[in-house]
Amino acid sequence: MKQTSIFRKAALTLPFLGAVLTGYPAAKPLPTDPAQLGAQIVAQGTKNGAVACARCHGFDGAADGSGAFPRLDGQSPEYLANQLLAYTSGDRKNALMEPIARGLNDAEIKAVAQYYATARATSFAPGFQSSQLLARGEQLAKAGDLNVRVEACESCHGPNGRGMPPAMPYIAGQYSHYIKLPFQMYRQGYRKTAQMGDPARNLRDQDVAAVAAYFEQVSRSASK
Ligand code: HEC
Ligand code: HEC
Repeated sequence: MKQTSIFRKAALTLPFLGAVLTGYPAAKPLPTDPAQLGAQIVAQGTKNGAVACARCHGFDGAADGSGAFPRLDGQSPEYLANQLLAYTSGDRKNALMEPIARGLNDAEIKAVAQYYATARATSFAPGFQSSQLLARGEQLAKAGDLNVRVEACESCHGPNGRGMPPAMPYIAGQYSHYIKLPFQMYRQGYRKTAQMGDPARNLRDQDVAAVAAYFEQVSRSASK
């Protein structure tokens, strides 16, 4: 017990890439109850190489506020599980998440998706954005822009970007830094879902920045 907590402290102070490379041994055999299983994977990872999710996504799914890691709290369990499967099949490419997802079996994917889907996190205060930028973002979110053949985001992502399970992720209150990233990923083929093809190809970077800034400041709780 003592040794475990010393190891955990030491491991948490490693720079995270180093931590990913060395992995994180599960201290106890994994429980079979799904709720306990989810919580244990988040805290300790799995023996097969999944690193403890909490290191990057936090225990409550809100990550560290930097926007480098997406918020997972309150996202639908189906969407979360599908993304983990997409990392294992190679449909979604990411150097950090692919090996982690491959370290989870089907029951573990289900359990950890359920854990974050029901997690409730406090939002970080969004950074300051100009009212012009937010107005352009709101226009794209609610009306789209026919001139560049981009539909309203909300026609797929739901009113106020609250998501429409199983396929449509919530984007309200997601970090703007993270919202911008998938646009690059779809453009470059690292993510493949066809529905994001037009928005990713047709929006200029400043429009992506505007719509990302807009959705970041939409409160997650108000959107539900
Ligand atoms: C070392 C940091 C790190 C760890 C540990 C980590 N993740 Fe991630 N995760 C990321 C990053 C970075 C992304 C964004 C990757 C991308 O753009 O595809 C991500 C993306 C995801 C996504 C997709 C989210 C979305 O909105 O599409 C899911 C689901 C996910 N992680 C689940 C997990 C689970 C479950 C665990 C634990 C078993 C875990 N992650 C551990 C860094 C991490
Ligand atoms: C035609 C439907 C459609 C439209 C319009 C659309 N999206 Fe999406 N979007 C999707 C689907 C489906 C996914 C999930 C794709 C996947 O599984 O990779 C997605 C994924 C995303 C993601 C990744 C979420 C995550 O957690 O990784 C972001 C960000 C996003 N959309 C933002 C937007 C924005 C902003 C707009 C408006 C400019 C928009 N989308 C318009 C269907 C749409």
